[in-house]
Amino acid sequence: MSTGQGSTGVRGPTRARIAARTLRTDRWWQAPLATFVVFSAFVVYATVRAFTGADYYAKPYLSPFYSPCLGDCVEGASDFGQPFGWFPLSAALIILVFPLGFRMTCYYYRKSYYRAFWLSPPACGVAEPHAAYSGESRFPLVLQNAHRYFWYAAVVVGLVLTFDVVLAFRPMPGEYAVGDGETSGVHMGLGTLLMIVNIVLIWLYTLSCHSCRHAVGGRLRHFSRHPVRYRLWTWVSRLNAHHGRFAWYSLFSVALVDLYVLLLATGTIQDLRFF
Ligand code: FES
Repeated sequence: MSTGQGSTGVRGPTRARIAARTLRTDRWWQAPLATFVVFSAFVVYATVRAFTGADYYAKPYLSPFYSPCLGDCVEGASDFGQPFGWFPLSAALIILVFPLGFRMTCYYYRKSYYRAFWLSPPACGVAEPHAAYSGESRFPLVLQNAHRYFWYAAVVVGLVLTFDVVLAFRPMPGEYAVGDGETSGVHMGLGTLLMIVNIVLIWLYTLSCHSCRHAVGGRLRHFSRHPVRYRLWTWVSRLNAHHGRFAWYSLFSVALVDLYVLLLATGTIQDLRFF
């Protein structure tokens, strides 16, 4: 490990000379290890599902990985048309950049994956293996500053997913038939319930974002002159304290809804109907 002058790492000239990697005696490695395992599993699952390009729609449920379905999607899945119908690969890849960019640049996830994957550092009070440190001041990490723009995109994605939940109440063809085969009534199945839980968690994650907090309450000199923004800022601040929890819960719920749609679409299970 470099100890030369000018090093900005933990062995740099301005840092305390401590030979031990850490003086911590607790199980500090548990959190980064859990993050590594769970995050890796999600990335593998999501990558396979996004590239597969099949089994993402089981009427009336659309997988969140494929929403909005703007490519050459199966019948009934494209509620916003197919402007990218010419796209030769999976339709999920057309919109993936927005949710992926939002999560990858998230302040909470950054902390988690810097620790778990780059060991930079692996935990508080544990020396990192790298000899130099430039933070997020250079390419490519300087691009993390795009997070606020991904937040705006995430709000749009959240609205689309909310619309999907409304559509999940649509009756199936032939159900509740009235008149000339027209369908009417409300569908409520386990898929609908999972999608409701998912969208609640997605909104909690999106609205508890640090960029959201800044968007509603940042750059103000006097809160007293902006009572509405102050009120919003206090609400977002309360949510923000739980942002890490919402990050994980919404990650699980997105994968769970997709898995449920996959099992339905492949005929592995039947939708559990409530009414
Ligand atoms: Fe996590 Fe913005 S800080 S989504």
